[in-house]
Amino acid sequence: MSNVATQTYPPSDDMAANAHVNAAKYDAMYHASIADPEGFWLEQAQRIDWMKPFTKVKDVDFTFGQVKINWFADGALNVSANCIDRHLETRGDQTAIIWEPDSPDEEAQHISYRALHAQTCKMANILRDIGVGKGDRVIIYMPMIPEAAYAMLACARIGAIHSIVFAGFSPDALAARVQGSDAKVVITADYAPRGGKATPLKANADKALAGCDPSVKCMVVRRTGGDVAWNDARDVDYTALEKEASDICAPEEMNAEDPLFILYTSGSTGQPKGVVHTSGGYLVYAALTHEVTFDYHDGDVYWCTADVGWVTGHSYIVYGPLANGATTLMFEGVPTYPDASRFWQICEKHKVNQFYTAPTAIRALMGKGRAFVDGCDLSSLKLLGTVGEPINPEAWNWYNDVVGKGNCPIVDTWWQTETGGHLMTPLPGAHTTKPGAAMKPFFGIKPVVLEPTTGAEIEGNDVEGVLCIADSWPGQMRTVWGDHERFEQTYFSDYKGYYFTGDGCRRDADGDYWITGRVDDVINVSGHRMGTAEVESALVAHPKVAEAAVVGFPHDIKGQGIYCYVSLMSGENPSEDLRAELRNWVRSEIGPIASPDMIQWAPGLPKTRSGKIMRRILRKIAENDYGTLGDTSTLAEPEVVDDLIANRMNR
Ligand code: WT7
Repeated sequence: MSNVATQTYPPSDDMAANAHVNAAKYDAMYHASIADPEGFWLEQAQRIDWMKPFTKVKDVDFTFGQVKINWFADGALNVSANCIDRHLETRGDQTAIIWEPDSPDEEAQHISYRALHAQTCKMANILRDIGVGKGDRVIIYMPMIPEAAYAMLACARIGAIHSIVFAGFSPDALAARVQGSDAKVVITADYAPRGGKATPLKANADKALAGCDPSVKCMVVRRTGGDVAWNDARDVDYTALEKEASDICAPEEMNAEDPLFILYTSGSTGQPKGVVHTSGGYLVYAALTHEVTFDYHDGDVYWCTADVGWVTGHSYIVYGPLANGATTLMFEGVPTYPDASRFWQICEKHKVNQFYTAPTAIRALMGKGRAFVDGCDLSSLKLLGTVGEPINPEAWNWYNDVVGKGNCPIVDTWWQTETGGHLMTPLPGAHTTKPGAAMKPFFGIKPVVLEPTTGAEIEGNDVEGVLCIADSWPGQMRTVWGDHERFEQTYFSDYKGYYFTGDGCRRDADGDYWITGRVDDVINVSGHRMGTAEVESALVAHPKVAEAAVVGFPHDIKGQGIYCYVSLMSGENPSEDLRAELRNWVRSEIGPIASPDMIQWAPGLPKTRSGKIMRRILRKIAENDYGTLGDTSTLAEPEVVDDLIANRMNR
């Protein structure tokens, strides 16, 4: 990836004049946020309503062994009241959510703040009736339908902690999260229509729940009305109960540091961990970043194409926009169904002003040709955003020229599940953008570039290293669910005193930041984060597999693809059938997003004499860049490398 800009794009005069934040304001606010974080966040916290004011802004320690992160800790609030109730007086009839279904033949819905209030209260009352209370965990395994947002907000309303499992995950992955969070209820739907196909979500939930505690309830939203198996003792019919449920439900008073949600995400080792976000700081940070990064103004129609199964959907479809009283669009389908104009048709139909998507979608649509874009009226667009992985300049330019017609600033937002909201991004009225650069830290964010091995801070510009953050911000994750030690180990042990992001970065000659990708064993496939260890453990769970090593390799559309080296049990023979079997096996263990792109049979894996797999070498071979393998002298059996090169898949 190139990380030198050939062309740069200053804010338009209009943006510079009318945006919430222009260059001078960014400089002043950024400076204030670093010089006096307490004062800065005290003021910013006033953008939400507190049931009980806080007296202390920040109580943070990044010291390994005693990490604690608290913001506004003695304040109390309710997140759903902030996202709904407080808007009722001024914008009760305004559309809160525009819902666009999978098929353009089905009608879109416009859900007003008043209707959102009623539906959220109904869902909250039903959850209470089936025994869900403050602090209980609720799994949400849903299509992108309004009920998914009602479910999130209903949990927030009664103080339950939601954990959304992306509907593309397998029953096994769902079961692991039900068990890991010790959930009381799974909220699901009969089927999830997507791209003209319908995933049988309820049937998946049935399979998952077969292996869980029998007391776990299953609440079912009827999306398609298709047939589902029913277990009277366990299953709850939301669609039937909703008709009778009361639409009044008082919001629970929650402490600022009470968990709002858990979201499982992959790391470099072990199974996915439950990232915990809490209520007050998270909401302040999601709301502020949503307003400033996207330059959201009252009356705008804002669309983030993510799924609520990812953090982007949490912060930038639901919590941030609704806290700001925005109109947020929720889309059930995929960019290429019925054809590759779907996104642009929706922008035209609903007069979308801010559009936020992932590089993988841009690349896929770019490949279909510009006619799909040119046929639509995109004159409503004011700003474009991207998130999830580094964007290559070619995709950036296409987005800018073909979609934005050169009139829309592009915000390349770098952040993580762990960070709750944007940590680095250009601001549209303040910064000159460079294709592929995340540019500038958001208010309160102190990025540091460290020398990877010594951990020494690298000062100055035109430098590269690992990216850490020197101090906390309100949207930061607080812990790993049930495992604070793992939290400290993962993020605070390698570079003492800092939050370690897992990303590499470059600070260019102008002092602007470019994310160069993960420096750990996490890969990014179509913007979905995957631990290579997870795919490996799925592979070795297959009875014919003795050993497996998984690495990423460059992929034109997905950004990275999944490359697996597999050693079979003795007596087992490689075959195309077995390849297909293993691919399906991984899909069913984790989900289709983890589907291996390449499986290479490896009679041996390159290991050090102490038995550690040398991934650096496997990565090079997968990248088809085996000319510079580096030092292989420490390998136990250097000759395995020759075999792997000779039989590489990625020619
Ligand atoms: C990882 C986090 C944050 C929501 C989506 C992904 C990569 C994310 C960018 C960007 C370059 C990016 C990083 C990061 N990443 N945004 N704009 N430019 N890389 O969340 O699944 O937690 O993944 O995604 O490597 O660490 P996630």
